[in-house]
Amino acid sequence: MKKPSSTLINEPTTKPNPDEPVVYLNGEYLALSQAHISVLDRGFTFGDGVYEVIPAYSKNLFRLQHHLQRLDASLTAVKIKNPLSAKQWQQSIEQLIDINAYNDQSIYLQVTRGVAPRDHRFPHQKNPTVFMMTSPQEKPAAEISITGISAITLNDNRWKNCHIKTISLLANVLLRQEALDKGAEEAILLSDGYATEGAASNLFIVQNDCLITPPKSPLLLPGITRDLIVEIAQQQKFCLKEQTISETDLLNAQEIWVTSSTKEIAPVTKLNDKIISNGKPGPHWHKMMQAYQSYKHKLRTH
Ligand code: PDD
Repeated sequence: MKKPSSTLINEPTTKPNPDEPVVYLNGEYLALSQAHISVLDRGFTFGDGVYEVIPAYSKNLFRLQHHLQRLDASLTAVKIKNPLSAKQWQQSIEQLIDINAYNDQSIYLQVTRGVAPRDHRFPHQKNPTVFMMTSPQEKPAAEISITGISAITLNDNRWKNCHIKTISLLANVLLRQEALDKGAEEAILLSDGYATEGAASNLFIVQNDCLITPPKSPLLLPGITRDLIVEIAQQQKFCLKEQTISETDLLNAQEIWVTSSTKEIAPVTKLNDKIISNGKPGPHWHKMMQAYQSYKHKLRTH
């Protein structure tokens, strides 16, 4: 059996099969059903690892360098040596996208501290596990641009290092599920009376026609979508402030958006039991969404 190596990049040998995606595991491209890891992988026993979710439009990667920089920052924060160079990451991700059939893909990648007997201490042998898979990048449902989505506020009970994109997502999973169980699409999290982000998204509000998003801090993930929206707002001379959002600001906002690589920019039109922005995506959302779609269009056709 071939010994997996996290630094080896093999030429993909598996033919595309729309029924079975090809995944990447420790330098090998394998049919999903052929990819196996040990039950002693620390990702499994401790949630000891980090991840990224990167969209590709018409097989062109969306803000790859930003994602790789954030991955590197997460790995540094959890003291796992980055197993691949930026160039190796790019090559292996691009190969994976090429092999898989869909034009628009969502690439999930994760790096764990590897396989070792269960012990909280870091293992002596440092052999991180690198896994990547892709799935179709679904367009946000068309009705969202007509009706928006609903959200509820929940107490942010996560740890204090939310800037690290860790695979230990149990708190986020529970918060998002609580929102879903209460008939809402997303939970907007409150930390000491301030809204920080969603369970799986960043947060923007519009107040006095000015776009506001909380500044980067350990209370929230530095979202790649968030950064692009900030960039567009600066280019297009929107009024923009990176400042804290109190619960009162949130409840009285003209518009509320939650953003992520998968949701793009979702307008929140109902928060708890309150209708926001007359129950429809607001004018600022329409303007930003147009600019965001035109960024995506350029990426597709570049
Ligand atoms: N999550 N904040 C949290 C807690 C998130 O989980 C995410 C995205 C974001 C937005 O980050 P970005 O714009 O880089 O996607 C903010 C991904 C999509 C996920 O876990 O599937």
